[in-house]
Amino acid sequence: QSPDKNGFEHFMLKEIFEQPGVIKNIISNYADNKLFNSNNSFSKEELQNIDKIYIVACGTALHAGQSGKFAIEKFTKIPVLTDIASEFRYNNSFIDEKTLLIVISQSGETADTLGALEKGIKAKAKTLSITNVEDSTIAKTTDKSLYCNAGPEVSIASTKAYTAQVALIYLLSLDMAKKLKTIDDEDLSSILIELKKLPEKIEEILQNVDTIKNIANELKECQSMFYIGRGPDLITAKEGSLKLKETSYIHSEPFAAGELKHGTMALMDSSSKVIAVATQSNLSKKTATNVLELREKGVSVYSVGVEGDVLLEKNSNYTVFIPETLDVLSPILTVIPEQLIAYYTSLAKGIDVDHPRNLTKSVISE
Ligand code: G6P
Repeated sequence: QSPDKNGFEHFMLKEIFEQPGVIKNIISNYADNKLFNSNNSFSKEELQNIDKIYIVACGTALHAGQSGKFAIEKFTKIPVLTDIASEFRYNNSFIDEKTLLIVISQSGETADTLGALEKGIKAKAKTLSITNVEDSTIAKTTDKSLYCNAGPEVSIASTKAYTAQVALIYLLSLDMAKKLKTIDDEDLSSILIELKKLPEKIEEILQNVDTIKNIANELKECQSMFYIGRGPDLITAKEGSLKLKETSYIHSEPFAAGELKHGTMALMDSSSKVIAVATQSNLSKKTATNVLELREKGVSVYSVGVEGDVLLEKNSNYTVFIPETLDVLSPILTVIPEQLIAYYTSLAKGIDVDHPRNLTKSVISE
């Protein structure tokens, strides 16, 4: 049966609105001990033998891995390297039998991701995949495979597969940390409480789109713009920037907020537009200062911050707020306004948002 739009104007919007349900399903399976079993997760002994993790993917799936890296490192204390599949294939990488290679792919068929996986297998790495197609080539090739179960994703711009991938990495990191005893029971249960609140927090963001529509309206005429962030917010900046490029054809570049002064600031004038993501408790003040510096140059700055961040709101033209959560879990919330900004900007420009020019859902050649 071919998927329909369920009353939504576009598949992209329908899939954005499906995210609370997709995430709820993943988290309740974990809480009911149904998410991990010996077919899809490594044993304590196998994990004890891992000294580094590579996460390799393309496009949006890579950003999911880069967001998840923070959770894996925080909870398991195992260092994580991330790489673009088409680079990893030909790089000097340090893979051996003590390496866990995680490949992420919505389709499970992306040529470069498969090539990266084959390289890992040759070097005797343990392998795990996260895909949204259960019997895909990538899912069938890895030692262990996790399934997003997000339902078919029709829109070329990936949304629900991304948040499902991020949620699965959060839970994978907890499963690993539990087995490795790098997390105590009390911390684990408080993280689980926060995880369970995510679907309704996503819902809350989806119900407040007025500011997002105002931002989209201001972006629609612009030729070129920038996204900034620090830490996990830099990854959401990259994903938001990619989403906007794909759906609205606006040239957009993501930057580490701290790198602005090392070059990019020279491009800023009163015609510039920047989206700043600032949700991390130890970093958001620094980004808010960058926002102020940009405003002083006449730049229009739209920000995504945590409810109650008055400084960020004061410094920005518009602020979209996300509900408070643990810093490490915020990427799954911060991406929602970014997806909606991309969607509404595309709509305002009259672009066929589900089928952006020159792009395909799955890239099966190098
Ligand atoms: C294409 C799609 C993107 C996707 C990327 C990786 O560029 O348009 O949405 O993120 O491929 O695809 P995969 O199926 O491996 O996640």
